[in-house]
Amino acid sequence: MAYKLFIPGPINVSEKTYKAMAAPIMGHRMKEFSDLFASVEPRLQQLFYTKDPVFLSTSSSWGIMEGAIRNVTKKAVLNCGNGSFSDKWFDVSKRCGKNAEFLQFEWGKPVDPEAVDKALSTGKFDSITIIHNETSTGTMSDIAALMQVVRKYPEVVSIIDTVSSFSALPIKKDELGIDVMVTGSQKALACPPGLSLLSVSDKAMKRAAEVEGRGYYFDFLEFKKFYDKNQTPSTPVISLIMALDSKLDDIFAEGFENRYARHQKNNQLVRQWGYNHGFKLFPEEKYGSVTLNCFENTIGVDIAGVIAELKKRYSMAFDGGYGKLKGKTFRISNMGDETPQTMQELLDNIDSILPEFKK
Ligand SMILES: Cc1ncc(COP(=O)(O)O)c(C=O)c1O
Repeated sequence: MAYKLFIPGPINVSEKTYKAMAAPIMGHRMKEFSDLFASVEPRLQQLFYTKDPVFLSTSSSWGIMEGAIRNVTKKAVLNCGNGSFSDKWFDVSKRCGKNAEFLQFEWGKPVDPEAVDKALSTGKFDSITIIHNETSTGTMSDIAALMQVVRKYPEVVSIIDTVSSFSALPIKKDELGIDVMVTGSQKALACPPGLSLLSVSDKAMKRAAEVEGRGYYFDFLEFKKFYDKNQTPSTPVISLIMALDSKLDDIFAEGFENRYARHQKNNQLVRQWGYNHGFKLFPEEKYGSVTLNCFENTIGVDIAGVIAELKKRYSMAFDGGYGKLKGKTFRISNMGDETPQTMQELLDNIDSILPEFKK
C-alpha cells in the first residue's frame, strides 16, 4: 500500500524524481559519473552556503553522524541533547570509544547557548555535536546563537546535524562557522532514503588527519581524495545521486527564498489548525520547528485510531509520536514539495474523522 507521507521523513517523492532515478546506471569511475558529481556539487555548495566540499555518503545520516565523531574527536566530545536523536548521538559517541559527556536539556526545550558556553569553557572538549532540529520533539534550537558561542573555542570542531531542517530554511554554514554539517536525502530534499551529505571545513579536515581510528568507509581524507576527482571512495548509490541532481533543478527553479517561504507558510497552516483544535505545541512556540509540528495530545484523541483510519480511508499517514512520546504527541511534517493545498487536504481529511476518535 502506498501512502502519502506526512511523517517527518521519509517523505513524499515526486514522479519527476522517481523518473530521474530510473535512468541507466553508469560506472562510478566513468566520466559520466564525474560529470554527474560535478553537476550536483556547486549547487550543493550554494545550498549549504559554503565554499567547502560537500561529500556524498552512501549511508543514512547515522553513518556520517558516527563517522564525524570518529574523524574529529581526539580529546573528548560534548554531545548536546534535547530529544531522542541527540540522546542516541551520545550513545554512539561512547560506542565509538570516545570520551563523551552529555549536556542534557528537557525534551522540547532548545539547546541553551549559555550552558554550552559553560561546558566548553572547561577546556575538556575538542568537538561538539548539536542537532539543529530535534525531529523527535519538533524543537529547533537557535543555531546562530549556539555557533556564536562555539566560535569562541577555536580548538572545538563543531558537528551540526541539519538532517530535518536542511534546505527548508537558510543555514549558512560558512557564515556560522560550522565545521561539519550533516544532512540526509529523505527529509526536506524529498528524495528516497540512502544518501547522506556532509560539508567539512579545513579545520575539521586538519583535525581528521591527526586522529587515529577513523576507519575507512567514513574517513574524511578518503572522501576528499576522491572528491578531488569528482568521485566517491566506493561505489555510491548512483540512482539517488541522479534523483538529487533532478531535485536540485527543482530547488533552483523555485528559488531558495520561495522554498523557505513555502515551508514557513505550510508549517504555520498546520500549527494554526492544531491551535484551533485546542492542541498545544510540544516545544515552546518560539522553538517550534519549521519543517514539522509536534503537538501534545491535549484534547485526548485516540491518535493511533486516527492514523489507522486516515491510512484506510485516504491513504495518508502522519506520525503518532516518537519513542517515549508515542500516543502523548503527534507529528505532522511539511517538508519537501508540499503546498498549502496538499497540507490543507491532509488537514481536511483528518477533520473528517477526528470527531469519531475523541475520547
Ligand atoms: C534530526 C535527525 N538526526 C538523525 C536522524 C537519523 O537519520 P537516518 O535514519 O537517516 O540515519 C534523523 C532521522 O529521522 C533525524 O531526524
